[in-house]
Amino acid sequence: GHHGPGGARGLRFAPVAPNKDDKVTVPEGYAQSVVIRWGEPILRGAPAFDSEKQSAKAQAGQFGYNNDFLSLLPLKGERGRQVLVANHEYTDEVLMFRGYDAANPTREQVEIAWAAHGLSVVVVQEQHRDGRLTPVSRHPLNRRLTATSRFELTGPAAGSALLRTSADPSGRRVLGTLNNCAGGTTPWGTTLHGEENFNQYFANASSATDKRYGIGTGATERKWERFDKRFDVAQEPNEPHRFGWVVELDPYDPDSTPRKRTALGRFKHEAAQPRLTRDGRPVVYMGDDERFDYFYKFVSSKRMMKGDSRRAREHNLTLLDEGTLYVAKITGDSPAAEIDGTGKLPADGEFDGSGHWIPLATGDVSHVPGMTAEEVYVFTRLAGDKVGATKMDRPEDVEPSPRTGRVYVALTNNTDRGKAGKAGADEANPRNLNKHGQILELAEHWDDPASDGFAWRLFLVAGDPNDPATYFAGYPKEKVSPISCPDNVAFDPHGNLWISTDGNQLGSHDGLFGVAVHGERRGELKQFLTVPTGAETCGPLIQDRRVLVAVQHPGEVDGASVEKPASTWPDGPGRIVRPSVVAVYRKDGRDIGV
Ligand code: FEO
Ligand code: CA
Ligand code: CA
Ligand code: CA
Repeated sequence: GHHGPGGARGLRFAPVAPNKDDKVTVPEGYAQSVVIRWGEPILRGAPAFDSEKQSAKAQAGQFGYNNDFLSLLPLKGERGRQVLVANHEYTDEVLMFRGYDAANPTREQVEIAWAAHGLSVVVVQEQHRDGRLTPVSRHPLNRRLTATSRFELTGPAAGSALLRTSADPSGRRVLGTLNNCAGGTTPWGTTLHGEENFNQYFANASSATDKRYGIGTGATERKWERFDKRFDVAQEPNEPHRFGWVVELDPYDPDSTPRKRTALGRFKHEAAQPRLTRDGRPVVYMGDDERFDYFYKFVSSKRMMKGDSRRAREHNLTLLDEGTLYVAKITGDSPAAEIDGTGKLPADGEFDGSGHWIPLATGDVSHVPGMTAEEVYVFTRLAGDKVGATKMDRPEDVEPSPRTGRVYVALTNNTDRGKAGKAGADEANPRNLNKHGQILELAEHWDDPASDGFAWRLFLVAGDPNDPATYFAGYPKEKVSPISCPDNVAFDPHGNLWISTDGNQLGSHDGLFGVAVHGERRGELKQFLTVPTGAETCGPLIQDRRVLVAVQHPGEVDGASVEKPASTWPDGPGRIVRPSVVAVYRKDGRDIGV
């Protein structure tokens, strides 16, 4: 018989209590170990990490900074090995460099930061005894892509005049990827990476379109524009148009050029997660993480080919270049007067309603009056504005349930909701000055991801369960963990949803939570782990035997620096804080949560 903690299958663990410890806290009976740290060498010739002797050359062969999205792909023919793909969203120079002078960064520091951005591919080895994973350095699939690697723009806007620069008159060849936040893994064995807050790297903008994307009019914080004029919009007005895309990477082909898929639109892409239609066409769900920005999907017109043949792989690398881009219009079914901005449930007992997908462009055809198709792809936010898309509370990660097809959208928070001159609460975004966020559950009509309409309801309205303005799918609130600011979402092999947080407003460190989405325990949210001081929990991946999390920006606290650290995780006092990937597994070797 089973005598451990109760819960839905896959979630039978004793919840971790909220805390502010400078470590990764896991449930009783579980253990953890670091898989890989910022700076660990992964490519042939890369030196061991030395925080006092960093160089751009070394960093280009080492694991990057601020790991975010994670994917693990199978590796055939190599026993016990998987391919880990990680995003490196951004750099935090003051925590990387001793004596960093923010007003006068050196060229070497800037070039290290370029090399610490981007993506890593690194083969990892499972350990026989437990859920530990260790990197296989110098594996031929290992790869670093940075802010200066070669990328290709593909799809309907590739080559557009809006994408041409003095260095690239073709409008098709871009140096680098920036601010890769969350992402997705495709059924055809590639990974997707959202270029999110790319605006922060560009200086001296003046156009209305750049303004809509948050690009500043003055110098940037990192001052990259001093070292490469492409980051100065006054000199290279189209360079920022070449960022803000979804990148597709083939991790099995180390010589391939990763592609920026223009058919999926340009915005602050948080993530991109596909689901197939019954006839095999991918549909990719995507959020634009900004207060009052939109939720999108792309429906491919091409069917995936099954199998691993060269022909199938080449065909499948074209799936995201042809199709239709849509934006969501979301409507509540309760009278507007019942949505009072406090989070009080309306009379029908649920925040719910219907929605439809507004087409923006199909190939070279624009569906938006007054905008060409190229303009729709490059200035997608403006297209959403024109068609009256629904202004959401910061759409972060999104994940379709592999079991039910329902799509879960993390809306992390929106402290500007209801402020003067800003949109007020609506049924899908029901709290003004929303500090804690919510998770929306979307069911496409006929369970067809290519459908033009859907039903939706809020699955979770986050916060302290003692706060009446919270909702846990109707589950008794005295039995759930407090949660704030849902960010990344993932499914486990049992069909439970796992949620990681960024920016907890309840006085605890951020963490990772699991929750059943169907059955009697739907809404029973349980906290699985917490992360160190200043950190955000990213990239959760739940396998049978292990949970993987990317501990991002540990030690990122106002006023902290290498000299005055707020965190010394993972290596302890006297050692520099290092963003790292962590594996959590059971001490008795059994599966997670059973
Ligand atoms: Fe990079 Fe929206 O989080
Ligand atoms: Ca309702
Ligand atoms: Ca995120
Ligand atoms: Ca975040």
